[in-house]
Amino acid sequence: MKTFYWKAGEAGALEAAAEILKKGGLVAIPTETVYGLAANALDGNAARKIFAAKGRPVDNPLIVHISDMKQIDLLAAKIPEQVSRLAKAFWPGPLTLLLPKKACVPDEVTGGLPTVGIRFPSHPVAQRLIELAGVPLAAPSANLSGHPSPSTAEHVWHDFFGRIDGILDGGPCQIGVESTVLNLSEQPPRLLRPGGVTLEQLQAVLGTVEVDPAITQPLAEGKQAPSPGMKYKHYSPLANVTLVRAASPDFCRFVNAHRADGVAALCFDEEKEELLIPCLAYGSASDSWAQARRLFEALREVDDSMHAKQVYVHCPLSTVGMGLAVYNRLIRAAGFEVIDLD
Ligand code: TXA
Ligand code: MG
Repeated sequence: MKTFYWKAGEAGALEAAAEILKKGGLVAIPTETVYGLAANALDGNAARKIFAAKGRPVDNPLIVHISDMKQIDLLAAKIPEQVSRLAKAFWPGPLTLLLPKKACVPDEVTGGLPTVGIRFPSHPVAQRLIELAGVPLAAPSANLSGHPSPSTAEHVWHDFFGRIDGILDGGPCQIGVESTVLNLSEQPPRLLRPGGVTLEQLQAVLGTVEVDPAITQPLAEGKQAPSPGMKYKHYSPLANVTLVRAASPDFCRFVNAHRADGVAALCFDEEKEELLIPCLAYGSASDSWAQARRLFEALREVDDSMHAKQVYVHCPLSTVGMGLAVYNRLIRAAGFEVIDLD
C-alpha cells in the first residue's frame, strides 16, 4: 500500500487526508497526547481496518474524537451533568469520557461495549481534520499493538509505513502520554487510565473520583477488566523492562553492579553521569511532565538505538499529578516486574 506523508502545514495536506478518511481510509494524525491512527468513527468497515493494521484485539474499543461539543449528542445516549463541568475545565484537551453510546456508533468502534469513549483534542491539526472530514474520528494510539505509543511522526512511520494510507506530521506531541480515561457511565466517576488531565484536577471539579486498582496493580485472577485495554500487554519494547524503585544513589549502585552485555538503563537526567552502562535519561527526577514527554521515545530507543536485551528503569519518585500516568505506563511496560530497594 502507498503511504502518503505530509507536513501538516503543507498546502492541501489536510484536505487530502480528509478525502482519504471520507472514503474509509486510515490516516495517522498528531494530537497533543500521542499520534492517533484515525478512521471515520461512524463506519464499521473503516474501524475494522484500524484493528487489522495495529494487530489489535477486536474487543479493545477505540476513542472517538470530536471537534465540536454538538457532536456529543450524536454519539452519547445519556449525558450526565458532570460532562458540561468537565468540558468547561478540560476540553479541548487530554480527557476521554466514557458515556452510554447511541446506536449509530458501530460495535467495531466500541468493541461491542454499551459505552463510547469521547475526546475533544486540543491539537489544531486534529480539530481541523475532523471538521474537514465532517465526521468524528475513531483513533487509537498509532503504534503496533503492545508497543510503545508514538510521540513523533517518525515513530508512526517506523510502525506503519506501507500499511496505512497516510501520515500527517504535526511535529512532536506536547504531552507525550495518552489522555486520561474517565468512566461517567457509572457513579461516582471512575478513573480507568491516568493521563494528561491529573486525578487531582478531576477531583477539584467532581469531588469524588474512584481510582480503579488496575491502574497500579495487576488484574486480580478471574476479575473482568473495567477497560479492555487493561488486560493486554502494553508499551513494551522488545527488551525486558524491569522497574527499580530506589533512591537515586541506590539506583545508580544497583545498575552499575549489573553491568553486562545487552544491559541498559533509563534514568533521570541527574543520574546520567553516575552510570557506567549504556543509559538514556527520560527527564528530570522532579519533573513528571518532562518524563511523560520523553517516556515513549526512550522506550523505543532502548530497542532501536541501544539494542538492549534488558533495561532497568528508575521508577518515578512520586505518583502524584502526572507522576501517576508515568508510573502506570512504566509498570505495564515492565509487566509489573519491580525490584524494590526502598
Ligand atoms: O490520548 C489518547 O487517548 C490517544 C489519542 C490518539 O487520542 N488515544 C489512545 O487510544 O490512547 P488507545 O486506543 O490507544 O487507548 C484507549 C484506551 C484503551 O485502553 C481502551 O480499552 C479504552 O481506552 N477504552 C476506549 N473506549 C472504551 C470503552 N467504551 N470502555 C472502556 N474502555 C475504553
Ligand atoms: Mg494505545
